[in-house]
Formats: sequence, C-alpha cells, structure tokens
Amino acid sequence: MKEIKIEATLTIFDSVKELPDDIRLLIDKAIKARTKAYAPYSQFQVGAAILLDNGKIVTGSNQENASFPSGLCAERTAIYYAGAKYPKAHIIRMAISATSLNKPSLTPIPPCGACRQAIAEYEIKQKEPIEIYYMGATGNVALSKSLENLLPFFFDKSVL
Ligand code: THU
Repeated sequence: MKEIKIEATLTIFDSVKELPDDIRLLIDKAIKARTKAYAPYSQFQVGAAILLDNGKIVTGSNQENASFPSGLCAERTAIYYAGAKYPKAHIIRMAISATSLNKPSLTPIPPCGACRQAIAEYEIKQKEPIEIYYMGATGNVALSKSLENLLPFFFDKSVL
C-alpha cells in the first residue's frame, strides 16, 4: 500500500492592480465577456478570455438553456471556439471572471470540474502549461500556472 500526494500551488493577488498591463487587458476582456452571458436561469454570469500564441484573444460567456444541461459554461464556450477557429494555435493563458447578479462575488471563482477537464485536454495536446487567472466580480485574483494545479489526477488519452 502506498499513499500518493500531489501538491497544488496557487498565487493570490490582492487586486488586478498588482498585475502587469497585458494580464489586466486579458482580465478586462473576460469581464466584458461576462456581461454578455446569457444566464436568465441562474443569474450567474461568467466570462472567459483566452490569449493564443498567434496573438489573438478569444472570448466566451456562459450560455444557458431552458433544457438546463444543454447550456454551456463560459470557459468551454471560449476554449472550443479557440480550438475550432485556430486549431494549430497554442493557448498561453485564460482569464475568468464570474459573479452572481444577486450578490457580487468578491472571491476568486475557479472553473467547474467539467471545464477543468476540457482545459486539460488542450494543455496535454499542446504539451505546454496553460496559465489560468480567475476572479469574482472584483477583488482577489488567483493564478494557477498550469491546469494541473486545479485538476490533479485528470483523465487523459493515455488510458484509451
Ligand atoms: N458556469 C460557468 O460558466 N463556468 C463555470 O466554471 C461554472 C459555472 C455557469 C454555468 C451556468 O450558466 C452558471 O454558471 C451557473 O452554474
């Protein structure tokens, strides 16, 4: 019998003001994307912005549906669009901003498990880490320098 331990490291910034201009720009795009969410059922808006190695920035927001499971999270809307539009590009980083419309979220809100699995696929495919900055409406910003910090023990193609 043996125990396996995996360490996860996050960096927490007090506010976007601590971050360099290029990261703030990406976070701004995520915040703008958030306002375009279609979230009439949850009143919870999420925006994601992805910087590619070809310099393009792709954004997405959550899109809900009266048939609830048919909706899609912001992170997957953005990453699938990036994969569809720029299949050869590598993802450098993703910024995410999420908030409830009923009470502004002031702590960093990480992507859900399904989105982590989707991001893992692209990190494995490109063999380079994807940086993930995530926050609420405002306040602290968390940075995971690789998806692996957010989803240890991820499922990958090696077992297929
Ligand atoms: N949502 C996201 O867009 N990303 C996540 O990582 C978690 C949840 C969306 C899905 C749904 O539209 C709303 O937030 C509430 O769950």
